Amino acid sequence: MTQESWLLRCIECGEEYPGAGVRYRCDCGGTLDVLHELEPLRGRVGADLFDERRGSRAAEDRSGVWRFRELILPVEPRLMITRGEGNTHLYDSPAAAAYAGLDRILLKHEGENPTGSFKDRGMTVGATMARVLGMDRVACASTGNTSASMAAYAASAGMRAFVFIPAGNVAYGKLSQALAYGARTLQIDGDFDAAMTLVEQVCAKENIYLLNSINPFRIEGQKAIGLELMQDLGWEVPDWLILPGGNLGNSSAIAKGLSEARELGLISQLPRIAVIQAAGASPLYRAFTTGLPLEPMEADTLATAIRIGRPLSWKKSLRGVVESDGVVESVTDQEIMDAKAHVDSAGIGAEPASCATLAGAKKLVARGVISRSDTVCGVLTGHLLKDPDAVVGYHKGELNEIRSNYANAPEPIPATLDAILEAIHRD
Ligand code: F0G
Repeated sequence: MTQESWLLRCIECGEEYPGAGVRYRCDCGGTLDVLHELEPLRGRVGADLFDERRGSRAAEDRSGVWRFRELILPVEPRLMITRGEGNTHLYDSPAAAAYAGLDRILLKHEGENPTGSFKDRGMTVGATMARVLGMDRVACASTGNTSASMAAYAASAGMRAFVFIPAGNVAYGKLSQALAYGARTLQIDGDFDAAMTLVEQVCAKENIYLLNSINPFRIEGQKAIGLELMQDLGWEVPDWLILPGGNLGNSSAIAKGLSEARELGLISQLPRIAVIQAAGASPLYRAFTTGLPLEPMEADTLATAIRIGRPLSWKKSLRGVVESDGVVESVTDQEIMDAKAHVDSAGIGAEPASCATLAGAKKLVARGVISRSDTVCGVLTGHLLKDPDAVVGYHKGELNEIRSNYANAPEPIPATLDAILEAIHRD
């Protein structure tokens, strides 16, 4: 490993720290960026190399994260804990575009990662860093997907995993994964924000490696979503990149990766980044629209993945939005579930939080922020099957305070040929 090729730098005061070490915050309390030396990469690392690797058989080239390793974490392949992350589809969906009022929308489905969410991109790097540092215990607080991903990567690496989840507010698909992969699953009697505070304290006290996105190496892995998207597009930059925001690590990561890609000359400009929050968990939206510092709020939304009122990475996220001349928008649970019905019935499918992307696109088009003819890409962050209760509840009309505007309810039917024939001839 070439430890000299990166540093950690505080986003608040600029203090720098050596690149490899167990550190998540600056002494001043600020969060840290991984700072790569990009200059030596100029001319040596570029589109041709990344495109060539995409066709290679080597695990470190085939992974949609490690393919970009010089920009992420230049470690030797033998150290990588990889499950071939990334390589997700970019769906061109006329149905989703029509719903949003766009000529075209391309949806990058990060639910197609090994554990069904975008978290695997960050986790392969976080888990690898745990191995590099010789840590054999890892932990995270989670609304579900981070814990599922961490549990899987820890199991592959033979590490002990501790997940801190808010009791009663984690979708069943995700809870099942944490249990199945063998993580110690601590159902905290509190919300995600309480679990996050506790896990940070426990990790510091017990020398357990913290794998939330406050860990700057997690962010490095998640940058690969934006890099792979640009690669999918032949390194042509779209006008807009839309994604949901919760703890705000992902938007921070994508913005950082694209900014570095521009610095290296891989892309010519940044797409405008639109972060979409659920109205019941929208502290960044409030900060963005008022211009005031982020005010934590008590979060509540049916999109449990983004049920977060005190997002850790809000400053980094806002930095990316501002740098890209982007926006922050908020959408109601009704808008999320209606958009989800369209993502699902297009044959693509995603969990509720992911569908804030399409709901946000529709709202921004209606508000005239995005034009019908703009080139628009969106990120779908998690798989449909992560939250089956939300799907069945919606289609059966059983979700509290949600109108099932696009329901496709199951039909109870007697077990006779006549009844079935009668049913299939009915409209
Ligand atoms: N979409 C899904 C499906 C998520 O699971 C999350 C976050 C987000 C969007 C928001 O991403 O936090 O980087 O802004 N899930 C975390 C978790 C909090 O614990 O799984 P973010």
